[in-house]
Amino acid sequence: MAATSDYAGAAACAACHPNESKQQAASAHAHALSPSKPGQPGEWAFGAGAQATTFVRRAGPANYMEMGESWYRAINGFALTPGHHNAQGVLYRIFDPSAGILRCFSCHSTGPLNLASDGAITPHEEGVRCEACHGPAAAHARNPAENPMPDPKKITADELNRICGDCHRMPAAAGDATNLENAWNARHEPLLLAASRCFRESAGKLSCITCHSPHAPLETRAAAYDGACRSCHARAAHRVTISGRACASCHMPRVRPQENLAFTNHRIAIYRAGDPLRPVFNEAPR
Ligand code: HEC
Ligand code: HEC
Ligand code: HEC
Ligand code: HEC
Ligand code: HEC
Ligand code: HEC
Ligand code: HEC
Repeated sequence: MAATSDYAGAAACAACHPNESKQQAASAHAHALSPSKPGQPGEWAFGAGAQATTFVRRAGPANYMEMGESWYRAINGFALTPGHHNAQGVLYRIFDPSAGILRCFSCHSTGPLNLASDGAITPHEEGVRCEACHGPAAAHARNPAENPMPDPKKITADELNRICGDCHRMPAAAGDATNLENAWNARHEPLLLAASRCFRESAGKLSCITCHSPHAPLETRAAAYDGACRSCHARAAHRVTISGRACASCHMPRVRPQENLAFTNHRIAIYRAGDPLRPVFNEAPR
């Protein structure tokens, strides 16, 4: 396993890779974790606030607490944290075998976590930064000529979906009975993308970066994704009128697992208006 000293940190990349650095610093990835700001509750703020921010604090020698109220952009205010039943918060044991709280920090930060003897968790680098995807790069940053990075353009679509899936959740293993029509699973984009015909029938060409820049902030204009669709579906046959509407608005509908949160159904398919989770199978009579 890589040691802390193998990681240079995003600041070390900026001088030589200014474009990626500038874009990435503005992304939600870069702000997925930060210390709570003055006026915010708790000690740590999880989530860049694109949709929500959940606060976490130390709670005694053996525990951390995920606080019961999160901030939601949709209401610009506080409401129950996803999955919580009251505002008291949920305790996590630091040394729980399932490592729940350590896993929160791992997915929202970069490099190895530092765990002090008193149990305090400190991320090596806050947020999802360069080396979360590219791997430790301290040697490269010191001397790029002698320590070239693996060329990320040579990563196959399958490997890429795994790199992203490491945090965004892996596609289901064979025989996995995960219910793809459960609204909470819409936040697991690799799982749903892998279940779509676009993915299964495009011979390993479709990956997360077919549609998303790995560095730039999320593109939120639905029509901006039309080009990616058309690269494989130059002439999609429609009986319905589609003029002026983005492909994704019908084929990747928004799913709302609870109030104030919405995700995009990455199981690209045909859906009826108002039913964003159950695909209408094209081969079945409709
Ligand atoms: C180390 C874990 C990790 C890895 C690896 C990772 N992500 Fe993320 N990603 C996150 C977290 C955490 C968020 C939530 C950011 C937030 O809103 O706080 C996120 C958010 C996103 C978003 C939404 C950004 C927004 O503005 O709402 C996109 C798109 C995304 N990731 C795509 C990718 C792609 C594509 C890859 C692979 C090339 C990838 N991610 C790899 C952890 C990761
Ligand atoms: C397996 C990796 C992983 C773990 C573990 C994890 N997160 Fe995340 N988190 C993500 C990713 C990926 C996203 C982006 C989801 C999306 O936009 O589809 C995210 C998004 C969020 C958001 C933004 C709002 C939302 O619901 O999308 C908050 C807040 C958050 N996580 C808090 C936490 C907390 C608190 C914990 C621990 C209790 C935790 N996360 C554990 C990967 C993880
Ligand atoms: C979410 C994962 C992720 C993060 C975070 C990330 N990258 Fe990348 N990066 C990629 C992927 C995937 C590619 C390959 C893109 C392609 O094939 O077009 C890439 C490509 C690159 C390239 C090659 C560009 C080219 O045109 O050849 C450089 C340089 C780079 N990244 C630097 C950085 C730096 C510096 C940071 C931090 C500021 C960073 N990356 C953060 C995933 C990531
Ligand atoms: C002293 C300058 C320097 C620093 C600092 C530096 N790099 Fe590089 N990097 C290079 C050079 C030179 C190349 C090869 C030419 C190119 O593709 O730009 C390169 C290439 C890359 C590539 C692409 C490899 C390819 O084949 O396309 C990635 C990814 C990358 N660097 C990531 C990083 C990350 C992450 C950091 C920070 C931890 C970093 N670099 C710091 C100079 C640097
Ligand atoms: C890498 C290529 C690729 C990309 C990109 C792609 N698709 Fe597909 N898609 C396919 C293939 C292959 C099929 C299988 C049937 C066929 O050939 O039309 C398919 C099937 C479909 C179907 C039929 C689904 C069903 O259940 O019958 C729809 C609808 C669709 N795609 C819409 C889209 C939309 C909308 C986008 C953009 C958001 C998109 N696709 C992006 C390759 C792709
Ligand atoms: C065919 C195009 C396409 C592909 C491939 C794709 N996405 Fe998306 N993704 C979208 C669209 C469209 C949105 C909605 C953007 C918006 O309007 O805010 C989105 C949104 C997201 C978001 C923001 C939260 C949400 O669900 O709305 C995350 C995170 C994300 N994608 C991750 C991924 C990951 C990880 C992969 C690879 C497994 C992936 N995407 C592959 C088109 C795509
Ligand atoms: C108004 C909603 C809507 C929009 C916008 C839309 N579609 Fe469709 N699409 C459908 C419906 C409904 C079907 C099922 C066939 C039908 O009724 O026309 C379909 C069918 C398809 C199919 C399967 C056709 C076949 O021959 O099996 C593909 C591929 C597809 N759409 C791609 C796209 C692409 C690419 C775009 C953007 C250029 C797009 N769609 C925009 C609703 C939409």
